[in-house]
Amino acid sequence: MLRLLIILVLLQRGVYGEIVSIHLSWTECPSTSMHITWVTTKDEIGSPIQYRSDSETEWRSAHYSSQPMPLGLPYLIHHASLIDLIPATRYQFTVGENTQCHYFRTLSDNPHATYRFIVGGDLYCGEGKGFHKMNQMAASLDPQFAVLGGDLAYAHEKLPNREETFEKIHRWIDFLSIWTRDMVTSDHCLIPIIPAIGNHDVAGHQLQTPNASPFFYALFPFPGKKGYRAFDIQEFISLIVLDSGHTHPVDGEQKSWLEETLRERSTVPHKFAIYHVPAYPGRRALSTPVSRTIRTHWSPLFEQFGLSAAFEHHDHTYKRTHPIFNNRVEANGVLYIGDGGWGVRNNKQPQNPQNTWYLAKTAKKSHVLQVTIRQEKCLIEAFDPSGMCFDSIKIIK
Ligand SMILES: [Fe+2]
Repeated sequence: MLRLLIILVLLQRGVYGEIVSIHLSWTECPSTSMHITWVTTKDEIGSPIQYRSDSETEWRSAHYSSQPMPLGLPYLIHHASLIDLIPATRYQFTVGENTQCHYFRTLSDNPHATYRFIVGGDLYCGEGKGFHKMNQMAASLDPQFAVLGGDLAYAHEKLPNREETFEKIHRWIDFLSIWTRDMVTSDHCLIPIIPAIGNHDVAGHQLQTPNASPFFYALFPFPGKKGYRAFDIQEFISLIVLDSGHTHPVDGEQKSWLEETLRERSTVPHKFAIYHVPAYPGRRALSTPVSRTIRTHWSPLFEQFGLSAAFEHHDHTYKRTHPIFNNRVEANGVLYIGDGGWGVRNNKQPQNPQNTWYLAKTAKKSHVLQVTIRQEKCLIEAFDPSGMCFDSIKIIK
């Protein structure tokens, strides 16, 4: 009775929390599950979730958990994992007291289906115009999901002990609310995120622990706060998400995990790595310490297990390398592509491929990559904010 009275009073005052953002990701099979995360203002007193497929009439409820936003930001984060879903099916859901429907689509589990996803990094640096413009273009490609290579919200300072400003850490909220609004497909589905961590997602940037990145780990479900994981689409596509030394060292435990993970996926035809700092930079020097460390510890494993491509970021320019094997250009080598610049303000001047042995193509452009996989064929295309495809490469497995 008392609880009912409190709820009635709160309803009268209109203090049910406002939904600030909703984003999707996966912790389990992408054909039969969906992980939904939503952020509300902190006066939320209950945030139930209901869902059903387009063809069902009855709503189902799911368990959810709630936690305060780190560092005293006045918001709550809510997580729900939906399981036992039907592959290649659109679902609708509502969260909180809001009856507005949102939508998502599970991935197909058919090896003959076409899979299409986008890749990009260095997204929102506090200036919404460039981010929003690229979002609009990226969403118009109707991707099934988005792989984000770090520096999502530029919310953290380089010095580990410096007090973080409210304005900067609030960029996590701004980033998520803009993403929620913009990243919707033509059939109204929210676009799930597979994130990697970048230096600006961590207080101190490099050689830290997960405690230095409370927002990243609170907002995106990484089992065990590892910062690295494998994302598999059945047995034909694997995305290996790595932490380029921000909250876990490149070598040691992560390197052992990478070797074991790639070995277990030896027969998977399409394998990709996603991480932030480039092994073969488009702008910075090849001798940059983190780049050298990645080439020492990860590149030989990429080569040994036949990686299709490594998606790299951080340099705010566009580059595509030649195929590289044992630090030389060889036809059976690994492609390194990307280098960030989804929504950052100023793109940087890349190196000239004519003077740089490993570079095949560079461009001073913001870009998003679109990856299309159909059976043994993989096509990677680079799009600028206007929607122009300015580079592409085919990989046959
Ligand atoms: Fe970066």
